Amino acid sequence: MDHFEYREGELHCEGVAVERIAREVGTPAYIYSTATLADHYDAIASAFAALDPTICYSIKSCANLHICRLLRERGAGFDVVSGGELVRALLAEGNPDRIVFAGVGKTDDEINQAIDANIGWFNIESEAELENLIAIARRRGVRVEAALRVNPDVDPKTHRHTTTGLRENKFGVDLDRARRVFDEFGRQEHVRLSGIHVHIGSPVNTVEPFVEAIQKVLGLIDGLRGDGFTIDMLDIGGGFGAYYRGDEAPAAQQYAEAIVPLVEGRGLRIILEPGRCITANAGILVTRVLYLKESGDRSFLIVDAGLTDLLRPALYEAYHFIWPVRPAPGFVPTVRGEGVAMPGLSPMDVVGPICESADCFAKARPLPPMHRGDLVGVFSGGAYGMVMASHYNARPNPPEVLVEDDEFRLIRRRETYEDLLAAEYV
Ligand code: LLP
Repeated sequence: MDHFEYREGELHCEGVAVERIAREVGTPAYIYSTATLADHYDAIASAFAALDPTICYSIKSCANLHICRLLRERGAGFDVVSGGELVRALLAEGNPDRIVFAGVGKTDDEINQAIDANIGWFNIESEAELENLIAIARRRGVRVEAALRVNPDVDPKTHRHTTTGLRENKFGVDLDRARRVFDEFGRQEHVRLSGIHVHIGSPVNTVEPFVEAIQKVLGLIDGLRGDGFTIDMLDIGGGFGAYYRGDEAPAAQQYAEAIVPLVEGRGLRIILEPGRCITANAGILVTRVLYLKESGDRSFLIVDAGLTDLLRPALYEAYHFIWPVRPAPGFVPTVRGEGVAMPGLSPMDVVGPICESADCFAKARPLPPMHRGDLVGVFSGGAYGMVMASHYNARPNPPEVLVEDDEFRLIRRRETYEDLLAAEYV
């Protein structure tokens, strides 16, 4: 699953003790494992190898340049959703041909920036956006490649905030409208509309919603081809699961076994946009216990990380496994996630220092005895962790550390108060 393990009673990332890293870079801090990133990228690439897919790593899940570069070296292209992400993809020396630009609200500046960079495709989310792209491309005398994002109205059975493929969601256009978009815009010269994009949500922890969405989209593609349109690309998005509560996510191979036979041999170039399944289990957030407190009938473990560092529990009520880095003797976990059970645990609310009641990583979580100063790992934090960090309460963002075998290096330093003030006129 990943390369975070308890060895001789102490949490290690690959060959490095987490305590050693925390001593050197302080807390809170994000720690990533190179081997886990590589393994998870390779798992997706080899599971889908029969399709010879273009894997566009979804930068939004973890945007650090070193991680982008590492994945690019393994063959990844990039899925970007903003001008800022495009800058990162290019700085990571991403091949522009393998960059896809998605998002419901691309600005003219961003579109121009992407045309300048000569990216592979635009994923179009509405007629209005397509009209604008056509106008810009015409003005500039260029021809760009695009796919239309469709909303297949399939329930991915995930949190409502990360559901994107239901009719009521803002993403893509419904299947009927998609036909009309092709009728109206599918034959003009400045945007070659030749692909279909679908992404129904994240994480999608069963294969059925993928199958249902792809079947619907293949029906659309057959219809469009029947009308004489050339459709040669299908982008099936991301949304492959990761392990938070246990081993709830299907393996890459299981997704592939369901998806590959549907699309194989149909003359479609396949794009995948995985993010979380590569990065989530490749990172942890390490934090230090500041105080223990009893109040009312609750026990609180107050740590130095908060929702400014990891927003997922507050925003999605997301579960992250939390455990001491060096647990008291007898409390080394043999499994991680909800399944952990042993005598002597007591329920604690794990909370941060932010002035928000939502600043709570876990409620009544059974935990071993802990003390002020102990280090705590918040697991499965590699995806949508650091990228969603904020400066609320004027808190500098944490550093990021990349471990490789027995070595680690800082790939982003801790921010300073000067960084926080840098854009302001003091
Ligand atoms: N492609 C598109 C069009 C997307 O919208 C997303 C994620 C992905 C690919 C990558 O999905 P992944 O493979 O990482 O699941 N902040 C939330 C997740 C938001 C996902 C947004 N879109 C969270 O922390 O769970």
